Amino acid sequence: MNSKAELSGRTIVLAVTGGVAAYKSAELARLLIKEGARVRVVMTEAAAHFIGAATFQAITGEPVWSDLWDARMPNGMAHIDLTRDAQLLLIAPATADCIAKLVQGRADDLLSTLCLARDATCALMVAPAMNRQMWEHPATARNMNTLRGDGAIVVGPAAGEQACGEVGLGRMVEPAELLDAVLAHFTPKTMAGRRVLITAGPTAEAIDPVRVVTNLSSGRMGYALACAAARAGAEVTLISGPTGLAKPFGVERVDVSSALSMHEAVLSRYAACDVFIAVAAVADYRPAAPSERKIKKSADKLSIDMVRNPDILADVAARADAPFCVGFAAESHDLDTYAQGKRAAKKLPLVVGNLVADGLGGEDNAVVLYDAEGRHPLVRAPKPVIARAILEHISRLLKD
Ligand code: C5P
Repeated sequence: MNSKAELSGRTIVLAVTGGVAAYKSAELARLLIKEGARVRVVMTEAAAHFIGAATFQAITGEPVWSDLWDARMPNGMAHIDLTRDAQLLLIAPATADCIAKLVQGRADDLLSTLCLARDATCALMVAPAMNRQMWEHPATARNMNTLRGDGAIVVGPAAGEQACGEVGLGRMVEPAELLDAVLAHFTPKTMAGRRVLITAGPTAEAIDPVRVVTNLSSGRMGYALACAAARAGAEVTLISGPTGLAKPFGVERVDVSSALSMHEAVLSRYAACDVFIAVAAVADYRPAAPSERKIKKSADKLSIDMVRNPDILADVAARADAPFCVGFAAESHDLDTYAQGKRAAKKLPLVVGNLVADGLGGEDNAVVLYDAEGRHPLVRAPKPVIARAILEHISRLLKD
């Protein structure tokens, strides 16, 4: 398992064309670099009307390229050399004009020439950004079809409010989502064709209309798994308890609150799935009779009667049509004994165990995988790295 940033060792040429969204490309460059990529920026002349080369130069630590006749490249052939050691040419934002030029195979500036001179080892990803009428124009629609047919990966555009004041399709996809698309592009598709159902986060059990019983689960581990599964090519549904986390790119999220609503959401979906990963910290008990009115602080003591919640994972795993079920065991002590016991009791092919002190609510985790072969400890790492390793393990077990 590697704990390095996901794009380490990759070179990405980030091409910026003349759209208002060009200012967001500076953030995109920063995110790509944070993930370990070497980023080389190419700007069109029009892009320079929206953002300065100095911004990109400072962020990437590399010279910015704009001119076909730039003599800084030792052989004077920037249009050939820039993509030769790159694995991805990402045009963000890509204007309608840039797309039309790509489709026609024009070569009258550095970017268009670079695109034409690109070889097969360097993929092309395009994030269109333009006014909604321009996007809807039949000429653009035709161009997009041709571009996709030529093998380009198209990300977006997104819908929403545009700089011109109109509302519709044509916004550049946000930098964080573009980063996701880039990471997905480089992730081996070990889960292609698999449908994965994941529960994540805490549950909230109502005491009265304003109070709940909940726990300290952040949801990060379940969200990291959903994200990693989607990047590995799976169709992912995430049943999420209350968390403040953003929906991972390419994942369908169903928001629930109580254990009972999570149970219902899982039961109506598990049969259509190949894998069920129960990461949620489901409350074991709920108030027996939540008050319809806010409870007043009149008495010195308050007792709340609690009843058992259904065990969602055990319920699914016990069914004849159960998918491949994965459980999590967060224990305060005796991890091996409890995790192995849980695997046997709930009849699970795989349990991911961690000590509460090691993972609950934090950014990192140290886990041990328990399967029919025994225990497999993973070194402490950020949850996204742990998620990738768990999925690699699942995909190996699914093949056996
Ligand atoms: O038995 P325990 O609660 O420790 O088991 C934890 C595992 O079972 C986790 O995978 C958790 O998501 C799942 N679980 C569940 N429904 C419950 C309690 C736990 O799905 N009511």
